This record gives sequence, structure tokens and C-alpha cells, in this order.
Amino acid sequence: MHDTLLLFGATGDLAQRYLFPSLLRLQGDGLLPEDFRVRALALSPHDTDKFRAILRERFAHLSHYTPTDEQIEQFLARVDYRSVDMRTPESVAEAVRDLVDRPCVSYLSIPPGLYISTCEGLALGGAFKAPNRLMLEKPIGHDLGSAREINATIGGLIDEDRIFRIDHYLGKAAVQNLLALRFGNTLLEAVWNRNYIDSVNILVSETEGVDGRNAYYARSGALRDMVQSHILQLLCLVAMEPPASLGADRIRDEKVKVLRAMRPFSATEAERHSVRGRYIAGLIDGAPVQAYAPPDDSDVETFVGVTAHIDNWRWAGVPFHLVTGKRMAERSTVVTVTLKPVTHWLFERPDGAHAAPNRLTFRLQPQEDIELGLMSSLAGPEWGTLELQPLELELSSETGRNRRIAYERLFLDALHGSHALFVRNDEVEAAWAWIDSVVAGWKSGDVPLEYYPAGTWGPREAAGYLPAQFDAVGRPAGRRA
Ligand code: BG6
Repeated sequence: MHDTLLLFGATGDLAQRYLFPSLLRLQGDGLLPEDFRVRALALSPHDTDKFRAILRERFAHLSHYTPTDEQIEQFLARVDYRSVDMRTPESVAEAVRDLVDRPCVSYLSIPPGLYISTCEGLALGGAFKAPNRLMLEKPIGHDLGSAREINATIGGLIDEDRIFRIDHYLGKAAVQNLLALRFGNTLLEAVWNRNYIDSVNILVSETEGVDGRNAYYARSGALRDMVQSHILQLLCLVAMEPPASLGADRIRDEKVKVLRAMRPFSATEAERHSVRGRYIAGLIDGAPVQAYAPPDDSDVETFVGVTAHIDNWRWAGVPFHLVTGKRMAERSTVVTVTLKPVTHWLFERPDGAHAAPNRLTFRLQPQEDIELGLMSSLAGPEWGTLELQPLELELSSETGRNRRIAYERLFLDALHGSHALFVRNDEVEAAWAWIDSVVAGWKSGDVPLEYYPAGTWGPREAAGYLPAQFDAVGRPAGRRA
């Protein structure tokens, strides 16, 4: 197991909120190598003592884990800090040279514009010689062209099989459960195709705003930030063919095939099948929040609803409604698979309605559960009739307890060299190719930015993209308090 981590972007939000706390917890659980050490690297002119003090303060306020003082001090003793200018390969090489004889993993949690110079520095300093590894945060680039450039340049410095591109959704246990459910059960796979499935909704709503990430977000927006990565990864797991094995490349081969089968957007497609939104002032949990105002007047969106099609035998004609937004009514990640209505309806319902379609709901966040919507007979029907009502069957309610957070799992897999939860170069590029077609459709078509008050379910125009079981005000109907 690799025992040295070179962590670039160590003072950044991601490192402070998730990466260091994950490492601390792995140490607490005895899952890191005995002589594991971290070199923290960033631009700030701190020294090791100052950086340890920052981490100590951070560790005192963790919400998901309460380490002991001894565990904290033991961890801090493993960390040292170097200030580095990532625009200059020589500075990077200098900052790591003394460590690269140990099996090390470099982790870039920095803006993608710095990837190439940082990797050139790592190569220069010897950090890419085998068996050393590289972990890269999303986004890989800003569009297909920049992603290709990053992949090609970095691929010339370190082998693909030693690169681990992160999409942290793949580290979430609930996301892996999608694969388990699909391929561990005959029941689902038998109906998992265009003959039985009417539509698929993938919703990732957040209550968080853009605050603090303005510079990045103004160039990115919801489509590039969330759809290119997390939502397309969820779509791949729902839509992929069964892989021949759980080998990393067998899984990734199948995901790439899905991405390549996605129908490119045209201007007409964009006008008919997408909505862009941006939040204005509103209320989140009763507290007022401000409108999003991008720094340079850009027309970047904080909400997107888009209907994708996968042109292959399994999915031809099945719409995949993809929705994500910031400052929405609640934090929720839900995949909803709606089946086609029964072909011949035999029954009566008290309200005179027809059958509700069967619906499989995977709720991944904030809590994990799976519901199967079925029709079932009412208890004690009057003689001579058989009346049905919708019934929600809860398939699992305990799966979410005490799971590892995504980054803990991803660190473990990368330190052990397992690629299955990481994204391959061709996968990133295929995802960008489709995203670029949506952006081009938006540019050439007439897709205006619609505004929505913070704390709602997005612009009115987006209602059709939300899962059908959301009631009039957009709350998932019938969910538990
Ligand atoms: C990140 C995006 O990749 O994922 C953020 O850049 C987003 O904008 C975050 O808030 C959501 O992750 P999670 O795990 O909180 O759903």
C-alpha cells in the first residue's frame, strides 16, 4: 500500500472539509499504513506548525466524527506543509523531491488550469515514476478540447493505469448500491429496458448556494459542475449493460458505451428539451438568502433541467430527465424509474383514477432508501368489486447507517490501487462531448435564463423535469417526515 500523500490545494475548502477529515478517520479505524505521511502543499506561506494549528482547529469542529485528542495529535504528526507556486514546475519539483523515493500518491485538489504545470513539476521532481500514482479532482477541463489537452499532456507524464480521476459520487455507498441492486437481482434486470420503462428522472437538488466559489462557478454553471460529472455518472450506472465482471475496465467500458450513445443536442433539441435557471433572493429553511450575482455579468445558470436520450436498443425512446440546482427547496438526490402502465386495466379505484404506474425510487441523499410503488387491493372491498390503491413498499431503510463518507472510500481504493470507482480518460471525454452539444444547443437556440426564488424547486418552466411523484409544491409526496 502506498504510504505517502502529496496533497496539493491543502488549504482549500475541499481539503479542509473532506480530505483531511477522511484521512483522520481512516487512521482512527486503523486503515492507513503504519508510517503513512502527508505533505500538504498550497500557495499560502504557512509553515508546518501553522498548518497543523489550522487542521487542529478544523478537527475540533467535525460534524460526522468525533476523534480523540490523541488521534488528532497522532495524525498531525504525520503532516508537514510546504508552500508552492503551482504555476511553476520547478517550484513543484522542489517541494516534493525529498519524498518521492517512497511509494507516493499525488492528489490535485486545485483548479484544472493548474493541472498541467503541477503535473510537469511532479514529473520533473520524480513523483510520477512507477509505482507512484496521481489522483485528480473534477472537473477535468472546461469542455472537450481542454479535457483532451489535460488528458493527453498528463497521459504523456504518467501511465493511465496509475491515474485516479475522482467523481466523489462514485465513492458514495448509496451510489454503489445502484449497481448492486441492478446486477444482484433478476427481478429488476428483467424489466430494465424500453419495453417496460417509461422514463427515468435523476434529480440532485441542493440548498447550498454558490457562495465562496464565485470565480469557479461563473465559468462553470450547473451543467458543467454537476451534470457533466455526478449526474452523468448516475445515468451511466442506471443505463449501462451488465459488465462481464466487476473489473474496473469492464465497468468503465460499459459506462463509456452509454455516454457515446447519448444523442447530441441540437438548437431545436435545446429549445424543446432543456431549461436553464438562476436563483434570485428567497428563503432557505426560513432564513433569507441573496440572489446569485456572477462577478462578470455572465449568464451562467444555477439550475438545469434537460431531457437526454440514449440511442441504443435498450433505451431507444425512453427519456432521461436530468435536473439539478443550487438553493432549491431541499437537499435531495433521487433516481426515479417509472414503468409503463399496465396494458389492460381491470380494476376500479375509489377516486375513479387509472393505475398509478409502478415506480422504483432510489433516494440517495440526504437519507438512503428505496421504494417500490405498486398497486394493491384495498382492505375489505365491498362485494362484487376489486378496488386498488397505490402502495409504497419500502425495500430498504437501514442501508444508510454508519457508512463511510465518499472520500474515505476513494482514498482507500486509490492507496490500494483499485480503479473501479474512478473515471477513465475516455469516459471524461465522452461526457464532455455530450455536454458541449448541450452548450452549443443553448448558444444557437433560444434558451433564456429563467429565474427562481431561492428555496423553491426551480423555475416554473422546469416542472416537467421533476419526478412525477413530486406534488404541486414540489415536495416528494408521501415521504416520511
Ligand atoms: C461538487 C460540486 O462536485 O459536488 C458542488 O462542485 C456540489 O457544486 C457538490 O455542491 C455536491 O456534492 P454532495 O456530495 O454534497 O452531493
